[in-house]
Amino acid sequence: MSVLSGFLLKSGSIQFNSICRRYISAKAFIFQKQFQGFPKESDFKLVNEELPALKDGEFLAAAEYLSVDPYMRAYAPRVKTGKTFMGSQIAKILESKNPDFPEGKYIVGEYGWRTHTVSNGKPLANGVPSAWLIPDLGNLPISLALGVLGMPGNTAYFGLLEICKPKAGETVIITGAAGAVGSHVGQIAKIKGCKTIGVAGSDEKGKWLVQELGFDHFINYKTDNVKAKLKEYAPNKIDCYFDNVGGGISSLIMMYMNLFGRISVCGAISGYNETELPKAPIVQYPMTFNQLKMEGFIVHRWLDRWLEGIEQNKNWIQEGKLKYPETVTNGFENMYEAFTDMLRGGNIGKAIVKV
Ligand SMILES: NC(=O)c1ccc[n+]([C@@H]2O[C@H](COP(=O)([O-])OP(=O)(O)OC[C@H]3O[C@@H](n4cnc5c(N)ncnc54)[C@H](OP(=O)(O)O)[C@@H]3O)[C@@H](O)[C@H]2O)c1
Repeated sequence: MSVLSGFLLKSGSIQFNSICRRYISAKAFIFQKQFQGFPKESDFKLVNEELPALKDGEFLAAAEYLSVDPYMRAYAPRVKTGKTFMGSQIAKILESKNPDFPEGKYIVGEYGWRTHTVSNGKPLANGVPSAWLIPDLGNLPISLALGVLGMPGNTAYFGLLEICKPKAGETVIITGAAGAVGSHVGQIAKIKGCKTIGVAGSDEKGKWLVQELGFDHFINYKTDNVKAKLKEYAPNKIDCYFDNVGGGISSLIMMYMNLFGRISVCGAISGYNETELPKAPIVQYPMTFNQLKMEGFIVHRWLDRWLEGIEQNKNWIQEGKLKYPETVTNGFENMYEAFTDMLRGGNIGKAIVKV
């Protein structure tokens, strides 16, 4: 192709034509079909989209890491089919006509499963920022802004400390303990001087929780006799329960709690792939007789303290008190595999995709 007839300079998916007008081609996963049970690959469609030139107030962001999270399964019924599937990403600002989002900066953007986005930076309809500038993380990897130094990290920090309010010497149990939120909650509980029991779905995860993260005990919810293990590991019963999964195991744990125990209800992944709303095992019995306090939350409740959580978690990492495991899948085209692998329990710590 001659220079005059219009040469193309390829740089990723950013191209220049003969008159040097830059145009951007984004890859995006479109939500084609509402999930029925476990998500299928055919529920998504990978497309190319040409993005418009920037207007005043807009900027162009290129994804470097994308997050796959359980909430994507839980909230999917709220996403319109035909639209980009939901999700957060770490993106670099390539070009900007918005002084609040300068070129070269990194952001966490709520742009969904797509490689490039033109954004105006305005909050979403629910008031949550559509993008926030990642503060200085020192020499820590930028990917942590999707995990321990981002939404899951703040979920662990505020969800445990503000709702369970654990005291030194108390016993804290965590379901979903080897995941992004759970592995972090257990480490904070240890920092606060508590005895920590993690519940997860494989012995490999259990070994890692105890040997690497310093959990005191581990229960494999798939193979252990949970009731017997609770008796063995918590002879003084349980004071705080950080519930990531819901379902039958939660009722069992609640029966084994101390008077005035506290339960932070973070999620219910055991039911997210059910086609019918799961029937709740009875909670009134343990709630009444153990006089428990149970409170659900969404992490955005603490939006006004967002940077406080990040700062504290960063300090704990720098003091060597907090480890930040990640399970990284390479390649944007592997979003579906990363998402469903996480839903099946294939991840240890935060599941992310590197573009
Ligand atoms: N309230 C909030 O604001 C908020 C914010 C973030 C996350 N969350 C919730 O917190 C929970 C954990 O999220 P995360 O991002 O940290 O995910 P994650 O724990 O890193 O990944 C999901 C894990 O769930 C476990 N799992 C899958 N099916 C299960 C089942 N039927 N029963 C028990 N465990 C199952 C798997 O581990 P195993 O191998 O152990 O099965 C899997 O690794 C989710 O419920 C999520 O919705 C809530």
